Amino acid sequence: MRRIALLPGDGIGPEVVAEARKVLEAVAAHFDVPFAFEHHLIGGAAMEATGDPLPSSTLASCRVADAVILGAVGGPQWDDPTAKTRPEDGLLGIRAELGLYANLRPIQVHFPEMSPLRDARDVDILFVRELTGGIYFGASGLSEDGTVAHSDMVYSVPEIERVVRLAAAAARARRGRLTSVDKANVLEVSRLWRRTAQRVMDDEFPDVAFDTVLVDAMAMHLLSRPRDFDVVVTGNLFGDILTDEASMLPGSLGMLPSASLGDGRPGLYEPVHGSAPDIAGRGLANPLAAILAAAMALRHSLDLPDAADAVEGAVDAVLAAGIRTPDLAGDGPAASTSEVGDAVAGQVARHK
Ligand code: NAD
Ligand code: IPM
Ligand code: MN
Repeated sequence: MRRIALLPGDGIGPEVVAEARKVLEAVAAHFDVPFAFEHHLIGGAAMEATGDPLPSSTLASCRVADAVILGAVGGPQWDDPTAKTRPEDGLLGIRAELGLYANLRPIQVHFPEMSPLRDARDVDILFVRELTGGIYFGASGLSEDGTVAHSDMVYSVPEIERVVRLAAAAARARRGRLTSVDKANVLEVSRLWRRTAQRVMDDEFPDVAFDTVLVDAMAMHLLSRPRDFDVVVTGNLFGDILTDEASMLPGSLGMLPSASLGDGRPGLYEPVHGSAPDIAGRGLANPLAAILAAAMALRHSLDLPDAADAVEGAVDAVLAAGIRTPDLAGDGPAASTSEVGDAVAGQVARHK
């Protein structure tokens, strides 16, 4: 029996995780594989119930699960800048505790007409964002008088090596190209990143074409020549920002799934988007990022690649049929969050 821990979290998190579960239940029935689902608290919801954004019971259950699927955390009610803890600490905590140093964020365009960009055809990029280091986890502090603050961007050679190796191996299995993004013209930490990446590639991946791009230029190239990129590896902060930008290639943040992986199990599967408080509770959220994250769980943690293909095919069929939430519907009629989930689950049930 495969154990799947669901962490709905806050805002639209519970709405989209419910649809991911619905689709996984259709997978269980159709492929005759039993799943045991469990729900646990994280983020603001966990703070309200326990005072802790990552209760130890949640962490303990996730450690023994085969895959963890998370919705989103955070919201304006927890945005007090002087608070000692925040919902986001729960997410950063689970990534760190489970050793999930590589965040895979695929950007694929199957429906270019959904993009606000003129020509997003055939884009297929895999971002590999370093997830447990960099500026998110370096030393930080605020001066006694509250007028000076710092957050240090820190990377060690082993941290850079392991994520570059994972990205290069992914490139080898795809189109054989890896781009490393940094700010080596200014930051010492980026110069170490670049030197280390170059050495790993020269020594271990001579068959993978490798180049480096500065992050400011990358923000432009992503829109001007997105088809030139295969796998992109970068640090925690740059990867966070560039992938939200890249969501405009498929046309909505609500389309982007991610897989956070380490060297052991389980993996954590999350949409790239947040809790979207501006649309929460109204059936407006696009559940496809969460559903596609569940497909990544089927492929990377649950050893069900055929089921992953079936879910991804079902998503394409539903979009092709014009069943789309408002973020993608344009001037056409829009479907609700649960209507899209029902349509994908129904399509999985008809899979041949
Ligand atoms: P957001 O990603 O929640 O929303 C950005 C914009 O995209 C909003 O206009 C929102 O309505 C839209 N959007 C996001 N997901 C969508 C979906 N599935 N369908 C349709 N539209 C969607 O970012 P934000 O508003 O800057 O942050 C809100 C909160 O979420 C903050 O507390 C932030 O810290 C948190 N956050 C959490 C995660 C996470 O849990 N992984 C990720 C990002 C942000
Ligand atoms: C994401 C989010 C998180 C991040 C926040 C909520 C901590 O933006 O998953 O992209 O910055 O990693
Ligand atoms: Mn983000």
